[in-house]
Amino acid sequence: MEKFIIRGGNELSGEVEISSAKNAVLPLISACILSSDKCILENAPFLQDVFVLNDVLRSINSSIEIKDNNMVIDTSRINNTEPDGELVRKMRASFLTMGPMMARYGKFKISLPGGCNIGTRPIDLHLKGFSALGADIRIGHGYVEARAKKLIGNKIYLDFPSVGATENIMMAAVLAEGETVLENAAGEPEIQDLARFLNKMGAYIIGAGTDTIKIVGVKELKGIKHRPIPDRIEAGTFMTAAAITRSKIKVNGIIDSHLKPVIAKLTEMGCIIEKDQNSLVIDGRNSLKAVDIKTLPYPGFPTDMQAQIMALMCTVKGTSIFTETIFENRFMHVSELKRMGANIKIDGRCAVIEGVENLMGCRVNATDLRAGAAMILAALAAEGVSEIRDIFHIDRGYYHIERKLMKLGANIERIKKMED
Ligand code: EPU
Repeated sequence: MEKFIIRGGNELSGEVEISSAKNAVLPLISACILSSDKCILENAPFLQDVFVLNDVLRSINSSIEIKDNNMVIDTSRINNTEPDGELVRKMRASFLTMGPMMARYGKFKISLPGGCNIGTRPIDLHLKGFSALGADIRIGHGYVEARAKKLIGNKIYLDFPSVGATENIMMAAVLAEGETVLENAAGEPEIQDLARFLNKMGAYIIGAGTDTIKIVGVKELKGIKHRPIPDRIEAGTFMTAAAITRSKIKVNGIIDSHLKPVIAKLTEMGCIIEKDQNSLVIDGRNSLKAVDIKTLPYPGFPTDMQAQIMALMCTVKGTSIFTETIFENRFMHVSELKRMGANIKIDGRCAVIEGVENLMGCRVNATDLRAGAAMILAALAAEGVSEIRDIFHIDRGYYHIERKLMKLGANIERIKKMED
């Protein structure tokens, strides 16, 4: 088990390059199942979650090669539609293979998800969509199995704008007969990127990014080359690193419109943010003030930035109220932040944070990916030394985070072998 040792208090400066978005790349890898041609993903991020999904695809006989920074995905020899259960259970995003397998092969059998750290996260909306397209769904013995002789377009209303369900249904519908209209769809930038990718392959999708997506089925899709969008959550995390250390840094390789809610909140706190074409400079050296946060589907404030901004609010004078509306259990970082001296009270889906003079370095756990990022941020600002354990969670979604932070002047070290 590896861990991070962070000595807090350093001011950050310089520039950081943002990698491609994890949550864009995962559906794109799955979408490659839709064509028997090779697809190339340029500038792919080499993250644990990406490696797991690659293995899921390999388990159904696809080949994935990494050449320079590109991933070449060949699904022409897929010979089964039952991905390895152990791998599927490792990562929820493995479910994004359901829609493409359904579309190309008319069936799949996949191990059911268990609970996860941030909530129960069911897949009922995904299945409701497949069923509306004509699939017969069976659940039993820990598996969900679906079969359809032919998928036929339909009108589908999502009870909640689920990101994964929108992606899965879009991918299932691209090869269906006729037209599918998906209402109350999610509009995240990653969904827009997936629609761009599928359209380049020859699909016909309009409205991605709005709450109504229309998909007209086509006969087949071809192989393409695509560069995924930059990671708005990684960018937001580095912007928060600047704010929590009261520093000024430049964040390169972003799409600023994807960061609107994060930019708005950091500006409301008192950070000065200057945007350029593909970069921004954030100056957090002013005195910052407490703000309230409510997580919402895009373009609302992203749940994936809630923990990091909470770490920041722990260091800002005043009271802030956080309301988490997306996941029912996404406050795992609170008890860890409290170990560092934060003053936080939880009441159901709300957390009330009273800023403290100083956080204090100590031993904490990364309880999930974004909670782990919040621990790093808190440790950068804390007095003394912090030790962050279970950092495999952080490696799922941040590419070389310690190298990027070290380049900005942070004192962070990855300890390879952990002695207790
Ligand atoms: N939900 C249902 N039924 C479903 C699907 C979702 O009730 O069939 C509920 C979930 O339980 C949750 C809410 O709807 O309470 C939102 O879930 P959604 O389906 O939108 O999330 P997801 O597709 O599972 C993606 C990201 C998450 C991100 C959420 C919300 C990927 C691979 N994951 O998850 O990313 O938090 O959207 O924006 O795209 C992360 O990167 O740290 C992360 C967790």
